[in-house]
Amino acid sequence: MPTVDVDWDALEQAAKQAMENAYAPYSKFPVGAAALTEDGRIISGCNVENASYGLTLCAECALVGQLHMSGGGRLAAFYCVDGQGNILMPCGRCRQLLYEFRAPGMQLMTTQGIKTMDQVLPDAFGPENLEETT
Ligand code: THU
Repeated sequence: MPTVDVDWDALEQAAKQAMENAYAPYSKFPVGAAALTEDGRIISGCNVENASYGLTLCAECALVGQLHMSGGGRLAAFYCVDGQGNILMPCGRCRQLLYEFRAPGMQLMTTQGIKTMDQVLPDAFGPENLEETT
């Protein structure tokens, strides 16, 4: 369990609000993501596309940028929505991004209910693996 109380409704609202800022003229698939940090901040991000489709920035990219721009720390809980406001699972690359900054017991709202980061990215490669080489 995360060490902070998670207000899932507040996270859902923050994710929906972030989604309204999406720049997705190519896919027409706006995404908003929000997270609660271990120290109680709510951060968010939206997807930002560009003409070179493959260089699209997912909502999670903006979110981890905001994590660092607003003081760093670790993610205790995460919520992502599509353009209809429905729960969206983070893509594979973004699961890795979120894993990097997870707090112990980090939870994600998923289409199957609340899951832990370890359930969403099992058997993950992470910073611990690099420590083994030093
Ligand atoms: N997208 C995200 O922002 N996050 C995800 O985890 C899934 C996909 C965006 C990228 C692209 O702008 C659009 O959704 C369609 O793939």
